[in-house]
Amino acid sequence: METKAKRNFALEYDLSWRKYDFIVNLYQLGRDSLHRRKALEFGGLKKGDTVMDICCGSGLSMAAIQSVIGPEGKIIAVDANEHMLALAEARARKMGWKNVEFVLSPIEDLEIKEKIDFAFFALCWYDKELNTGWVRKIEQFMDRDTGRICFFDYKLPGNWLRPIIMPLLWLEIKWLGEAYTVEDLKWEPRDVIGGILRDPNYTAYFFDCLVVVAGKPV
Ligand SMILES: C[S@@+](CC[C@H](N)C(=O)[O-])C[C@H]1O[C@@H](n2cnc3c(N)ncnc32)[C@H](O)[C@@H]1O
Repeated sequence: METKAKRNFALEYDLSWRKYDFIVNLYQLGRDSLHRRKALEFGGLKKGDTVMDICCGSGLSMAAIQSVIGPEGKIIAVDANEHMLALAEARARKMGWKNVEFVLSPIEDLEIKEKIDFAFFALCWYDKELNTGWVRKIEQFMDRDTGRICFFDYKLPGNWLRPIIMPLLWLEIKWLGEAYTVEDLKWEPRDVIGGILRDPNYTAYFFDCLVVVAGKPV
């Protein structure tokens, strides 16, 4: 059976990149950027940090990151899909951000020279094997004691909303042609993601539909 670690998920956005931002914002009722900022603050992002925006996609995290790091910080935005990365580049141009470097590369093959302070994985949890590989790769570019790794992703709420959210999530996943199913979201992010980080912290918000797990490199 094909494992997720062997699949090329970046290619799947060749069909959905045009509608990506709209769908993500629709699901979060237009509060996507606010939710990301909350995640970054929970994760311990600081002014002046160099941030790697892992699988940056269309750059939806960049405004939130910039609002914390300021012009003295830097973003290294990495994605393997050329359409998604082009959207991120266009966003940076429009906003006049000069402190962003774009890298078109699979995370697996990434080579950079500088150290990063903060690695942000937003909406790119695929499975434990694949994401653990990505974390171990990124850790090479981080200081073990001061580096921070932060995941921001969807979860199924544990409350009355669960049966209502499931068809909405199913629709979003279908619409985006995402590689996972609603069944895959029946997970315990606190344990699963927390298990691959050192000293993990966890929080959930937006009606228990969004999760942040942040910690240090192992
Ligand atoms: C759901 S989108 C998330 C984009 C962005 N982080 C956000 O929060 O909106 C997933 C992104 O992961 C990228 N991706 C998937 N596999 C990748 C890989 N192996 N290396 C780099 N990027 C990858 C896709 O191209 C896509 O842009």
